Amino acid sequence: MRVTIFGASGLLGKALVGEWGKDAVSALTSRDADVRDPEAVRRVMEEKHPDWIVLSAAYTDVDGCERNRDLAFAVNRDGAVNVAAAAKQIGAQLLFLSSDYVFDGTKKSPYETNDVRNPQSVYGRTKAEAEVRLLELIPDCCIARTSWLFGTGGKCFPDTILKLAASRPSLDVVNDQKGSPTYVVDLARAIVQLCRKNAGGIVHVTNSGDCTWFEFAQQIVKDAGLSTMVSPVSSEKMARPAPRPAYSVLSPASLRALGVEMPPWQDALDRYLKERNA
Ligand SMILES: NC(=O)c1ccc[n+]([C@@H]2O[C@H](COP(=O)([O-])OP(=O)(O)OC[C@H]3O[C@@H](n4cnc5c(N)ncnc54)[C@H](OP(=O)(O)O)[C@@H]3O)[C@@H](O)[C@H]2O)c1
Repeated sequence: MRVTIFGASGLLGKALVGEWGKDAVSALTSRDADVRDPEAVRRVMEEKHPDWIVLSAAYTDVDGCERNRDLAFAVNRDGAVNVAAAAKQIGAQLLFLSSDYVFDGTKKSPYETNDVRNPQSVYGRTKAEAEVRLLELIPDCCIARTSWLFGTGGKCFPDTILKLAASRPSLDVVNDQKGSPTYVVDLARAIVQLCRKNAGGIVHVTNSGDCTWFEFAQQIVKDAGLSTMVSPVSSEKMARPAPRPAYSVLSPASLRALGVEMPPWQDALDRYLKERNA
C-alpha cells in the first residue's frame, strides 16, 4: 500500500509515520505542499501516486481560527477540497481527519455518525463544511472524527498540565466540558486498520470512556505522582475566544462495526506518560 500523509509534522502525523511500518509512506509538511495551493497538491499527488491519502493537515488552533477566519476556511475547508479533487483525479482513496467540534454539545448521550452537525466555533464550521464538500466530491471517502488529541510529538493538554503542575501548587481546570481524550498512537493504529479495511463513510475514532478536562487533569497529576491540587472551574470563569461543546463524546459504534476497538483513555494516558519519560 502506498500512502501519502498531509500534516506529517503534526501531533498525529508523527504517530502515523511511526505506525505505518513497511508500507511506502510519503510524509508531507506544508513546505512540501501547501494544501491551499491546488497546483502544488496536484503535482505532489501525481508524483507520489498513493493508494491512500491521509489528510491530517489542518489549522488546529481553535481560538486562532476565531481571529483568522479566512485562513481557517482556506486551510481546513478549501485545502481539504483541493486534496480531495487531486485524490479523485488520480483514483486514490482518502481519509480525512475531522473533529467532535462539528457538534453543538447539547446531547446527553454519545454522538452517532449521523447526528446533525451544528458547529459553534469557526474551527468546527471549517471541519463541518469540509465534511460536506468531501462527501459530495468522493461519496465513499472516509471521514474519521476524533477528539482531544494527546501525544509526545507536540503541544497537548497533558504536557501543558505537567509543565504547569511542576511549578504551581494548584491549578484551575474546566469541569463543564465532557469528551474523550485520544492518544495519537492509538488513533494512528486505528487509521492504519481503517485504510487496510478500505473503510468509507463517517467513523468516530477516540479512546474509549469519557471525562471532563478537570477529571483528565486530575488523572494526569495523580499518575505523574505530583501533589499539585487541581480545582474544578466553569468555562465561564476561563473564558476563551472559541466556544467549546459542553458534551462531545463520540459513539464507538461505527468503529466497532468495522471490527476496530480502542483502549480506555486511562490506559492510553499511562502509555503516554511512559513514552514521555522514556
Ligand atoms: N488536536 C486535537 O485535539 C484534534 C481534535 C480533533 C480533530 N483533530 C484533527 O486531527 C488532525 C491532526 O491534528 P494535530 O493535532 O496532529 O495537528 P497539528 O499538530 O496542529 O499539525 C498540523 C499539521 O498540518 C500541517 N499544515 C498546517 N497548515 C498547512 C497547510 N496550509 N498546508 C499543508 N499542511 C499544513 C502542519 O504542517 P507544518 O508543520 O508544515 O506547518 C502540521 O503537519 C487535524 O486535521 C485536526 O483538525 C485534532
